[in-house]
Amino acid sequence: MANFIPDDTIAEIRHAVDIAEVISETVLLRKAGKNLVGLCPFHAEKTPSFSVSPEKQIFHCFGCGSGGDVFGFVMKRDGVSFVEAVRALAQRSGIAIPERELNPDDQRRLKERDSLFEINRLALEFFCDALRRDPAGPAALGYLSRREISSRAVEAFQLGYAPKGWDTLLGFMAKRRIAPAMVEKAGLAVPRKDRSGYYDRFRDRLMFPICDESGRVVGFGGRVMDDSTPKYLNSPETPIYTKRRVLYGLQRAKDRCRALGSAYIVEGYLDLISLHQAGIDNTVATLGTALTPDHIRLLTRYAARMVLVYDSDDAGIRSAQRCVELFWKEHADFRRGDVFREDQADTRILVLPEGHDPDSFVRRHGAEAFQGLASAAPGMVSFLAETAVKRHGLSTEGRIRVVGELMGPLSAVNDPVAQAFYVQQLAERLDVSEAVIREGLARRRPPAAQSAADAPARPPGGSAGVERFERRIVTMMLQFPEMIPEILERRILECFTDGPMKRLAADIIAGGHRAGTPVADLLSRVEDAGRRQQLAEIAMSDEVWEAKGCRTLLNRFVESRRKKAVRRSLQQEIEAAEKGRNEAEVMRLLSEKQKLAARRVGPRAPVAPER
Ligand code: UTP
Ligand code: MN
Repeated sequence: MANFIPDDTIAEIRHAVDIAEVISETVLLRKAGKNLVGLCPFHAEKTPSFSVSPEKQIFHCFGCGSGGDVFGFVMKRDGVSFVEAVRALAQRSGIAIPERELNPDDQRRLKERDSLFEINRLALEFFCDALRRDPAGPAALGYLSRREISSRAVEAFQLGYAPKGWDTLLGFMAKRRIAPAMVEKAGLAVPRKDRSGYYDRFRDRLMFPICDESGRVVGFGGRVMDDSTPKYLNSPETPIYTKRRVLYGLQRAKDRCRALGSAYIVEGYLDLISLHQAGIDNTVATLGTALTPDHIRLLTRYAARMVLVYDSDDAGIRSAQRCVELFWKEHADFRRGDVFREDQADTRILVLPEGHDPDSFVRRHGAEAFQGLASAAPGMVSFLAETAVKRHGLSTEGRIRVVGELMGPLSAVNDPVAQAFYVQQLAERLDVSEAVIREGLARRRPPAAQSAADAPARPPGGSAGVERFERRIVTMMLQFPEMIPEILERRILECFTDGPMKRLAADIIAGGHRAGTPVADLLSRVEDAGRRQQLAEIAMSDEVWEAKGCRTLLNRFVESRRKKAVRRSLQQEIEAAEKGRNEAEVMRLLSEKQKLAARRVGPRAPVAPER
């Protein structure tokens, strides 16, 4: 894990704190067997599916898939980084974190980040002050009041004013002995063309500070107060401001998002402030850029339901479509990494009526009307269906195209109930039979997944039988690491076909998981949050393994792989014989294939108790 806290210290902290105790501060837990259960703090639920294992020192929610060790819990609960979580827990357990481990490079970077935060903080002070004291301040306040921004919102969002002139901020910084080059690094000054110095980036603009989750200012947006362009100027990316990771307003919205289990995502500064003023304060803004996977990951820590709000124009619709694709195509991994398990079914696209953006809509029609629209907003699948219908029409050709376009998204819906519902909906909308759509879906799936009727809901693309096999091997690696050397020696992992399982196995090996070390130790060495959660989920299972059962499972796995290879080559021989019209040979090969099929091995053999 990318941090500079020694592993020993991390282990020491982990042993000093009790996960059950830490979680009890947020969640009411009751005993259930060896575990403790309660209502998940990370998604809205009525029956408890959130479990904590005091023995393994991990948690896992069977509802939303979140899980991990005590650091993971604090990260998610407080919206902080791993290092911050470690520091917080170190503090409460009175363990000192040795700073000497910082290498000089890290030290320099850390110091630079600190100064950039400080410069932004000072700039915020300067802009807020200028809004009250600068001669042009009243005009700026006048603009705000014309936009119906209350003085409370001005306070709450720390709005400010960047004065006219080329170096007012630079002058303010110079008095505090801050070099112009550092102000530039913070994104607040720009070097002159002739390299003779710097000038202020923001001049005569209304200023909106952009904060990270913990409320530190990382950048600014500045709006002109007339029709000149560009309308908004934003801080560039800096070592402390990565646009694809920052959601405007998240720091203020996160508690409400968590309390309500839902979040609105809008585009603009004033959209957000306006909604907030109207009492819709579970809102964040992407600031005009497309929603990124990082944004979503960040937000899913707080809310399972999301409403993406767009203006009525084409740009809004295009952007909504990009988002849909983002959820479904690019992040297949992510989806199965549990982050999207629930929310993908509950992400709505709200396109506002012609001519309105969230700001104008809520001021004109009020919060209730806005929320009414939101509750009627279509989910992603319906939205896609409607836009596809708009594009292709309902002629026979058009309907074929619509079904074609919807196959990808539909097959990506993990929840079989939701999927069935969407299929029905689409069939009704297009006036085709459900069977047509279902058949299209089935064709996208490898045969093994179809026959595994008893398999749990799984995303498409993998064969459930093999997946379960491989999952059990991964479970075994976690629960009974004594087998890892043998697994490596027999090159078992090389035969894995399920990419995500293979990566989990690799994580277990890379994490140096050994007999006698707690699973929680391993988890903190896994950098990817999605995989950490999956490992926690698997580790939560109570399968008990001993060497003999393990070996049986491995043998069966190897055998099944071998059979698969035989089947494949048989198939090739059959095809060759068919081409050569060698009937007798075809018959012989087919009967061999049948025999092989009859002896199929499966992962359900009684090697270890099922959970
Ligand atoms: P909009 O053009 O929709 O503006 O841009 P808006 O948010 O409605 O702003 P007002 O109501 O006219 O004041 C949406 C967002 O896109 C970014 C800003 O973050 C803006 O809030 N944007 C827009 C820019 O960064 N630069 C621009 O020139 C315009
Ligand atoms: Mn607007």
